[in-house]
Amino acid sequence: MNNFLELCKSRQSCRGFSEQPVEHDKLAQCVEAGRLTHSACNAQPWSFVVIENQDMVSQIALCGQQLKQNAWLKTAKAFIIVLEEHAVLSPVISCFLDSQYYAKGDMGAAAAYICLEATEQGLGSCIIGLYDRKKICELLNIPAEKPVGYVIALGYPREDTVRQKKRKAFEDIVRFV
Ligand SMILES: Cc1cc2nc3c(=O)[nH]c(=O)nc-3n(C[C@H](O)[C@H](O)[C@H](O)COP(=O)(O)O)c2cc1C
Repeated sequence: MNNFLELCKSRQSCRGFSEQPVEHDKLAQCVEAGRLTHSACNAQPWSFVVIENQDMVSQIALCGQQLKQNAWLKTAKAFIIVLEEHAVLSPVISCFLDSQYYAKGDMGAAAAYICLEATEQGLGSCIIGLYDRKKICELLNIPAEKPVGYVIALGYPREDTVRQKKRKAFEDIVRFV
């Protein structure tokens, strides 16, 4: 991959993974991309849990079965979970805003970096929006009050077709002034 826009076009939500296990080093690279993400006041309001133990992967997959459309999750070979941590904003900013004001956006950016690095590594990824947060916390010994930001399913894609992106038209959402 030698072009960032090409990487953006080939990153797509993968909803079916092959049996091929995911190498530990590739997961570490993905989470490293997350760690390098920008954040407001460089507060880095995140931590990451990488789930590669296959028994635990199966249990986490079950936590995402609230939507029957997410049944494919049982094929996931790994997960990366982005947890929200306390953000320390610069004193000037924190006069105006709650410390966690930017945290959700920052975590979203970290999740995006992780997914893009996964694509670069030849992996498929999909962010999961609906899951049993309480059960995930219990399984991973995460304090119940800690916000679980993003759950990202990973594995080698079962199919390698790159779908056409469905996006709003450039001219409908962009304005140059
Ligand atoms: C916060 C968030 C939650 C999502 N939740 C799910 C989900 O539960 N199941 C699913 O199949 N896709 C989920 N997606 C993937 C979106 O459906 C997908 O990103 C969107 O349709 C655009 O397609 P693309 O990722 O293939 O470009 C989620 C994406 C985000 C960012």
